[in-house]
Amino acid sequence: MDSISEPSVVPVVAAPGLVRSRIAGFGGALPDRIVTNDDLAASLDTSHEWIMERTGIRERRIAAPGELSSDLAAAAARGALADAGLGAEAVDGIVLATSTPDRTYPATAVAVQAKLGITRGFAFDIAAVCTGFIYALAVADAMIRSGAARTILVIGAEVNSRILDWTDRGTAVLFGDGAGAVVLRAVDTHGGAGEARVLSTHLHADGRHADILLVDGGPGLTGTVGHVRMQGREVFRHAVSKLAAVVDEALAANGLRQGDVDWLVPHQANLRIIDALGRKLGLPPERVVVTVDRHANTSAASIPLALWEAHTDGRLKPGQLVLMEAIGGGLTWGAALARL
Ligand code: ACO
Repeated sequence: MDSISEPSVVPVVAAPGLVRSRIAGFGGALPDRIVTNDDLAASLDTSHEWIMERTGIRERRIAAPGELSSDLAAAAARGALADAGLGAEAVDGIVLATSTPDRTYPATAVAVQAKLGITRGFAFDIAAVCTGFIYALAVADAMIRSGAARTILVIGAEVNSRILDWTDRGTAVLFGDGAGAVVLRAVDTHGGAGEARVLSTHLHADGRHADILLVDGGPGLTGTVGHVRMQGREVFRHAVSKLAAVVDEALAANGLRQGDVDWLVPHQANLRIIDALGRKLGLPPERVVVTVDRHANTSAASIPLALWEAHTDGRLKPGQLVLMEAIGGGLTWGAALARL
């Protein structure tokens, strides 16, 4: 008989219920430097009033020279592990969403693994731009359900400031840097409606719309990193319709109604898009977690940063139902529902 090598998967102990994943810890990290709209107006033909009115952004954090996505990600991951009461040795793998990796390769997740002192398990990146965290959560949730792992760090980390054209007022004012992380852990559920778990994830992509939001460089195309280019109006149009549809899809898949949602934790691109989704769900503004005013658009980091903030200040409570949604370059879009 041929010899078969040992599987590298972590075996799931047989349990009476189904294995699902649940969010067991939250973390976040932001660069120290705050850049206000007035700071930007000193070198760009823009104003605090224009930026506030169109986006709701007051200020953003910008990474220090040499500060990398992996630095922010590792800090966020440490916070999430501490919040979960776990050490790094508990981590079976890292799934990291970013559009601003430290290097073309290896994956930024591997750098984070090394910074955390982890020497086992898997570590890889996900590229789905602003939808990256939803994609990463979906992949990690599927791995836990399948028995491939029991504890996964799911991270969104960006240094958007490195890919902005600081002379383009149409994009430079919109983005910020940061990282957020959650610890996703296996839990044996029995199907009870109130049990803490990720209920479902819903992913979409349509590459026909790649040209409305992209980075105009890369190792294959130009050999350079490139800069963000965006047709803002077109992105806005797609955002409102596609996010409304995917939110309906997530609720319908679980037999839930809009009124069942305790918190909307949306991708933080623009307050007008966030408000439109909150209204669609019939949620009062105080049930929508907003960080875009202080963080701007941190791309894949925006949802886990918002989760971290709302968890840290006590808004998120066990048993509550959280709806997450995002759209970004690709186009990619998606939603996730989780019971805390
Ligand atoms: N300051 C002052 N004027 C500006 C600025 C600025 N920072 N940026 C653009 N303008 C000008 C334009 O040049 C244009 O001037 P013109 O009429 O003389 O040509 C005018 O403002 C209107 O430009 P629009 O792009 O049509 O402005 P709009 O009202 O659409 O607002 C915005 C732009 C805020 C980008 C909006 O389209 C938007 O929010 N789109 C959604 C896209 C988004 O949020 N992307 C983030 C990344 S993707 C994601 O995360 C989903």
